[in-house]
Amino acid sequence: MATILLTGGAGFIGSHLADAFLAAGHRLLVLDSLVTGRRENIPPGAEFLHRDLRDEGLEEVLAAAGVEIVSHHAAQANVRVSVDDPIADAGANILGSLRLIMACRRAGVRKLLFASSGGTVYGEQESFPCTESHPTRPTSPYGCAKLAVEQYLAAYAALGDLEPVVLRYANVYGARQDPKGEAGIVAILAEKFLTGSPPRIFGDGAQTRDYVHVSDVVAANLALVDDWRPGAYNVGTGVETSLNDLYALVARELDAATEPVHAPPVAAELARNSLDAGKLARSHGWAPRLAFAEGLARTLPYYREKFAPRA
Ligand SMILES: NC(=O)c1ccc[n+]([C@@H]2O[C@H](COP(=O)([O-])OP(=O)(O)OC[C@H]3O[C@@H](n4cnc5c(N)ncnc54)[C@H](O)[C@@H]3O)[C@@H](O)[C@H]2O)c1
Repeated sequence: MATILLTGGAGFIGSHLADAFLAAGHRLLVLDSLVTGRRENIPPGAEFLHRDLRDEGLEEVLAAAGVEIVSHHAAQANVRVSVDDPIADAGANILGSLRLIMACRRAGVRKLLFASSGGTVYGEQESFPCTESHPTRPTSPYGCAKLAVEQYLAAYAALGDLEPVVLRYANVYGARQDPKGEAGIVAILAEKFLTGSPPRIFGDGAQTRDYVHVSDVVAANLALVDDWRPGAYNVGTGVETSLNDLYALVARELDAATEPVHAPPVAAELARNSLDAGKLARSHGWAPRLAFAEGLARTLPYYREKFAPRA
């Protein structure tokens, strides 16, 4: 069992990972500034470090705790925010990650896993679903920052200092995703339907995404932690779902009859996205276990409980 430092462990994906790392018997430290994350998401068995990635002294923290693996999930995770404020986005996502990389290097931690974004680093795809060798042409500052960190990691790997793993996630959904973040469309739709406000669809709704359930993302992380093989891996289903179809699926599950309000398309939003996770299937036997309909059926009761009016 390893001692793991998980950044972003108070957030959506990080909190599911925290539960899973503890359940697998690892010793866990969670680092989170709580800028969007919530303290109650952190499981009691984890040691909590309430600090920003950019705070001084991270190297000493890693060394004193004997950290062996760093799982880096802290980020400004909102694409639209990155378009409006690329400097703040780069501060958290590039400089914050660089602080962590340098701390790992100085503390002699070689195993760093980075949560990247298969939904943004490739940009508009030429092939569907795309593999890791597809050209990378991000169309948002958020995607640029993710790709920049991947390249810093590759550079320090080439220098022999790190053995990084990069997981390029598709659109992750599941319980605890924050609908206020404007990033998790399933959470946003669920909140709107359950609170009786008609959701907006930006553009014509034909844009597609690859939706992967958070439990499958957790399984991918556990597989890499158990069998560390440096490299970049897509984590997605290869299945495209349009926003219009997603809207209809969530509305049906929640018995909502609201018609969508259409709004102008959003800058930097891709037309289509889907990821081929064959590399991770071949290396670690990973495959998504939940089809989208099943994952939604597992997720929506959480939002029903959270937002449905009390009788
Ligand atoms: N949700 C998705 O669909 C998706 C897809 C691709 C990649 N990712 C990546 O996965 C990771 C987790 O995403 P999420 O959806 O759980 O986001 P989230 O916003 O729920 O979690 C991010 C966490 O990081 C913390 N944080 C942010 N900036 C910090 C800083 N400077 N120092 C310390 N803590 C900080 C926040 O408080 C929060 O708890 C992020 O790196 C994100 O970019 C997410």
